[in-house]
Amino acid sequence: MKIELSNNKVFYKNGTSSEEIHPFWLRERANGEKHLDKGTQQRLFDPTSLDVEVQIKEAQIKDQILEINFNDGVNSKLDINLIAQEFSKKDIAVHSIEKIKWDSSLKSIKDFEFKDDLFESEEMYNILVSFYKYGFVIIKKVPTEDNYLVKFANSIGSVRRTNFGEHFNVKSKPNPNDLAYTSLPLAPHTDNPYRNPVPCIQILHCITNEVKGGFSTLVDGFTVTEILKKDNPEFYDILTKVKVRFKFIDKDVVLEDWSELIKLDEDNQFKQVRFSPRLDYVPILEKKDLDLYYKARKKISDLYNSKKYRIEFKLQPGDLLMMDNHRLLHGRTEFDVNEGNRFLQGCYIEFDSTEGKLRHLKRKYNL
Ligand code: OGA
Ligand code: ZN
Repeated sequence: MKIELSNNKVFYKNGTSSEEIHPFWLRERANGEKHLDKGTQQRLFDPTSLDVEVQIKEAQIKDQILEINFNDGVNSKLDINLIAQEFSKKDIAVHSIEKIKWDSSLKSIKDFEFKDDLFESEEMYNILVSFYKYGFVIIKKVPTEDNYLVKFANSIGSVRRTNFGEHFNVKSKPNPNDLAYTSLPLAPHTDNPYRNPVPCIQILHCITNEVKGGFSTLVDGFTVTEILKKDNPEFYDILTKVKVRFKFIDKDVVLEDWSELIKLDEDNQFKQVRFSPRLDYVPILEKKDLDLYYKARKKISDLYNSKKYRIEFKLQPGDLLMMDNHRLLHGRTEFDVNEGNRFLQGCYIEFDSTEGKLRHLKRKYNL
């Protein structure tokens, strides 16, 4: 990508093609002190009030700076590298981190360790990059007192409160309103598929784990989706098309949301999985379609539950697991309450928290 000038017009050249950049696009980016607030980087003018026919009177490029005089008297100096970055049309900080697909053979993933100044450190950037690569990250020795989990989450972004509270205590209890609060095994699932929006990131912090069982399990929904797409395209097709109803009922709330089990983005690429077969209801479709749908759901369930794709590990007190609830499925093995206590605390945060922190640390450390 190259920025070039010809007859007071600005062009971007990509390979052999050359396109003019609209003068108004450049004018909107006027960054003199009358036009852009230094601190907030917000505009001090309203571009919708300007004449869209604005023209360039003079332009030159010197030392990577494009200087333009517009015919409305405004002068602007733009860094051509920043202009070039805008052609990616996607956020670079996050989207340049490539997802690494994994299955049960995933062995040596780096665990991180908590320290007091973690949240503003370069290590935090590495934690977030690892999170975006694998869809999860484990931080060890996180303080276990006074609901530290909430402080932890709020130091990255903001906790997303739900009807389960700001945080929830995962332990076996009488009259549970969710099977998570029992000692039963939990098959791989995504959390809260019935919410709109579905919580992006789940944090589980282990406070006590005295039982022999109660292993944590994770499955990469991205890997499984790609396998299904390759091996069973007709199953992949129907699971990316049919919207099902997810429902959760409690004493004072009835939550419901409709979605495909595999959601694709506008480029037909993987975006999100939802899976919680205790909570999903497919609408009435023609019998032949339901026939295909049920076979497809069984297949994806078999894949999610297969040992081939699952990793299993024991959370130790202080371990904090942060996972992408749109990409990964999680679960746990059964445990026996007579062997001792098992106590995890959980909460949710959204992607804008981790993305915002990631961009901030990238800027701070010039990464
Ligand atoms: C949950 C959950 C897993 C565990 O609370 O959503 O899946 O290890 N818990 O208890
Ligand atoms: Zn869960």
